[in-house]
Amino acid sequence: MGLLKLGFQNQRLHLLHFVPESFSVSTSKFWVQKLTDNKSVKHSALSSTLRSKLIIAKALSTEAEAVSQPKKMVKAIRVHEFGGPEVLKWEDVELGKPKEGEIRIKNKAIGLNFIDIYFRKGVYKAATMPFTPGMEAVGEVTAVGPGLTGRKVGDVVAYAGNPMGSYAEEQILPADRVVPVPPSVDPVIAASVVLKGMTAQFLVRRCFKVEPGHTVLVHAAAGGVGSLLCQWANALGATVIGTVSTKEKAAQAKEDGCHHVIIYKEEDFVACVNEITSGKGVEVVYDSVGKDTFQGSLACLKPRGYMVSFGQSSGSPDPVPLSALAAKSLFLTRPTMMQYTLTRDELLETAGEVFANVASGILRVRVNHKYPLSQAAQAHADLENRRTSGSVVLIP
Ligand SMILES: NC(=O)c1ccc[n+]([C@@H]2O[C@H](COP(=O)([O-])OP(=O)(O)OC[C@H]3O[C@@H](n4cnc5c(N)ncnc54)[C@H](OP(=O)(O)O)[C@@H]3O)[C@@H](O)[C@H]2O)c1
Repeated sequence: MGLLKLGFQNQRLHLLHFVPESFSVSTSKFWVQKLTDNKSVKHSALSSTLRSKLIIAKALSTEAEAVSQPKKMVKAIRVHEFGGPEVLKWEDVELGKPKEGEIRIKNKAIGLNFIDIYFRKGVYKAATMPFTPGMEAVGEVTAVGPGLTGRKVGDVVAYAGNPMGSYAEEQILPADRVVPVPPSVDPVIAASVVLKGMTAQFLVRRCFKVEPGHTVLVHAAAGGVGSLLCQWANALGATVIGTVSTKEKAAQAKEDGCHHVIIYKEEDFVACVNEITSGKGVEVVYDSVGKDTFQGSLACLKPRGYMVSFGQSSGSPDPVPLSALAAKSLFLTRPTMMQYTLTRDELLETAGEVFANVASGILRVRVNHKYPLSQAAQAHADLENRRTSGSVVLIP
């Protein structure tokens, strides 16, 4: 039941405090506490003057409530202008309460993704400025919005994708965009695999279905997504060819199930693929590098092969004339994880498969780099400059 705390000053009724969950002046069950004599008075027993003043008080109540409650502040990274890693600022930001359909989570670990760099640079445009980047996190539920069922305080949940804003100690999320984290999966592992793993899932299981006997080419095979993609494609029975920039990354890619690794900074990957496949080409190329590899990737495909261009770490590929696909009747797609997890069922199924593969050991998650959240700028610089492999996490 709601409670108004009213006080009389200079013969006038003033609203001092308002504590309603659902407040209705019209209900006769409503009680008012007069602070002057500390007595409770039934609404129906109030004089008409006092009742009309209550109506005014109700109008003021929202404002009064906002003023009377201290604002919750959390630390977060914010971007005020597009640019290099230095535009990532460590600031205090105000956090509201979860509204209907929302939850508040206290982040335990935050996944770093290449998409965060695109937003920081302005390659992709954030809806607001300033904004808090980040699209992957695992945290504990600290509050739920009014009337929400199915989620409770203390649940450990993961999210990947929209809304952006995971580079924060706490954040508000739509409850229907989070998935439960199985107790067997450590939160840091979960934050390293939920977005990247769901990306690998849709790529090998739905965008192009990898099957035994296929040969697949994975660029940036030692990266966050690349590492998982190679392991998953291998587990599905494919012959996996991976490209990487260094010998160290090549060793990791081998461990992750690449049957052949090409150091594409030193070797011509098209010639290597041609040799490995005896001139036949591959069924599918998973190309996240973009500008530097796109044309070569098309050349690696067999007739009716699938060009899956799912990222642009080196920049956007040049425009492709349709005629470029005609020579081998190629398929070209530019998919995103968001479009493959549109419905609640798709989201739960995709995340469920990822966590099941982690639990069964099919996916070994490489948490190769951890940074304090406050040092997100250093983490960005390292990811952008190809100094990382596997997953990168930020710890609040
Ligand atoms: N479509 C989707 O839904 C979706 C979802 C997730 C990720 N992605 C994309 O997948 C890619 C991988 O993301 P990630 O977060 O896992 O990053 P990541 O692969 O760990 O890092 C990017 C890697 O790309 C390679 N690379 C090649 N040329 C590069 C260049 N000029 N600059 C920087 N890196 C270069 C580097 O590996 P080497 O040193 O071995 O070359 C680098 O380590 C990104 O392009 C991302 O946008 C797409």
